[in-house]
Amino acid sequence: MTVLITGGAGYIGSHCCVAFLEAGHDIVVLDNLSNANSLSLERVAKITGRKVSFEFADIRDQPKIESVLKHYKCTAVVHFAGLKAVGESTQMPLAYYDNNVVGTHRLLSAMANCDVRQMIFSSSATVYGEPKFLPLTENHPTGAVNPYGRTKLMIEEMLRDVSASDPAWRFGILRYFNPVGAHESGLIGENPLGIPNNLMPFITQVADGRRERLSVFGNDYDTRDGTGVRDYIHVTDLVEGHLRAHEVLASGSASSNCLTVNLGTGTGYSVLEMVRAFERASNKEIRYVFAPRREGDVAECFADTSLAEKTLAWRAERGLEAMCRDTWNWVCKNPSGYSSEET
Ligand code: NAD
Ligand code: WQD
Repeated sequence: MTVLITGGAGYIGSHCCVAFLEAGHDIVVLDNLSNANSLSLERVAKITGRKVSFEFADIRDQPKIESVLKHYKCTAVVHFAGLKAVGESTQMPLAYYDNNVVGTHRLLSAMANCDVRQMIFSSSATVYGEPKFLPLTENHPTGAVNPYGRTKLMIEEMLRDVSASDPAWRFGILRYFNPVGAHESGLIGENPLGIPNNLMPFITQVADGRRERLSVFGNDYDTRDGTGVRDYIHVTDLVEGHLRAHEVLASGSASSNCLTVNLGTGTGYSVLEMVRAFERASNKEIRYVFAPRREGDVAECFADTSLAEKTLAWRAERGLEAMCRDTWNWVCKNPSGYSSEET
């Protein structure tokens, strides 16, 4: 009983490897390392004291996926692999449709051919588009506003169609809000290449002196301090949600063979609240300037978490302080990410 973890060398995937190994599951990671460093898996082995099987491969290589599924006798897949940068997706949409949509299609085809019929998929709150009401429930209308979001929606639809075609399939579509933080050991964490697009990595790079100041995108939103509000979730809580989803699906106790569930905390924090929390955790000043709104951003976005509590018996436990403390611990212990160990 082995779980295939695609994209398992990446940020969320590496934390998921820890959660599954610590829960006693056998795993094999498949990753093309397009946005990861395989040292993350050595760190996973260090944290868990267990060896991590790794296959350097692309999810679009269907024959290879089939040979991996058969070789390791996989019974389920947790599917993280894909491209994830919103801005980049508007510049190179075909790469996004190819990696994300075509890749997931090939992965599903390989699974069908090998009779592996359980998948957990990394979706995103981005599929809700501009919120019509808050908190966002899973039946809020969907409507992605960029190619990245549309790939997530297309994949969700593909999974729903496949689940309807045969009750033997079991899918967990997990819509993440804003994952942040790192493993408490400081051995694994987020390692963005280039200028970070996301708030937390940017704040960390101001704290450690790599960037001079944060640009706060918009201070005229209809929120408590005018800056954007998001539902940040600790990556360790997030991957525990995957473990619960895996167990619920595998036990056959799920209410449906295709669960679509939000993974968030239900609490929103503004950009300025994040800045202050990080200042407390790091004891560093985070310099910032107000800048114009970023195109495509919404004022506020946070989850209704009741379905996750009901269907997965899961809820996020870690608060903002732990999110900032664990991020800072990871950055202090790995000032150059994983690259300091390269050569
Ligand atoms: P990440 O880039 O760190 O991880 C993705 C991994 O997939 C990387 O290791 C990359 O090398 C690998 N990969 C990419 N394309 C591949 C391919 N064609 N074949 C094999 N491997 C491939 O990103 P992450 O933040 O860990 O995100 C994981 C998943 O969660 C992604 O699907 C992402 O869209 C989704 N997600 C992330 C966030 C977030 O804010 N981080 C939010 C919502 C959803
Ligand atoms: C958070 C807040 C910004 C950077 C994105 C994707 C989403 C999902 C998670 C994958 C917003 C503000 C940011 C900066 C800032 N990813 N900000 N200065 O946009 O909520 O979600 O990541 O699925 O699809 O869109 O996250 O971290 O980019 O921004 O002021 O330099 O921080 O305006 O209010 P976002 P984020």
